[in-house]
Amino acid sequence: MKANTTRATVEQAYPGLIAAAEAAMARAHAPHSHFRVGAALQFDDGRGDRFVPGCNVESDVYGLTICAERNAVFAAVAQGRGHPSAIAVIADTDEPVAPCGACRQWLHECDVERRLHVFLLTRRSDAVRECGTGDLLPEAFALDADERAARNPWR
Ligand code: THU
Repeated sequence: MKANTTRATVEQAYPGLIAAAEAAMARAHAPHSHFRVGAALQFDDGRGDRFVPGCNVESDVYGLTICAERNAVFAAVAQGRGHPSAIAVIADTDEPVAPCGACRQWLHECDVERRLHVFLLTRRSDAVRECGTGDLLPEAFALDADERAARNPWR
């Protein structure tokens, strides 16, 4: 995706977030695609670790593969965490990595208050794309949107 900010700017506002995503990327299990992705959610609630990482994990049954972003989202739910303030996603791409449609849906769906700061990065440069979940998935599907907040796993 097209960059609109830099690593230094993100690093200043969210110290350690990029490093956490990079560390997760190093743990990616991608024997089929060899396309490694790392993600990290940041929590400012003081209820546990500041960062919850996720990496892509691929299965021999290709369709069972899970993306880095969803792995981080699900891990945070399993830890009983609240609403994250930011997510960083990184891969080895020419431009800041573009999340898949399924991950866009999950991020949009959980970010009911539209306050998650999304940072998309590439390992190849300092280029970063910053956006919100509404930018990632405009006019997203939502089942009875008014009731959605009551079912938010991020609380
Ligand atoms: N992948 C992610 O982890 N996140 C994305 O947003 C895009 C795709 C993974 C899934 C698969 O393991 C590999 O990248 C290639 O599709």
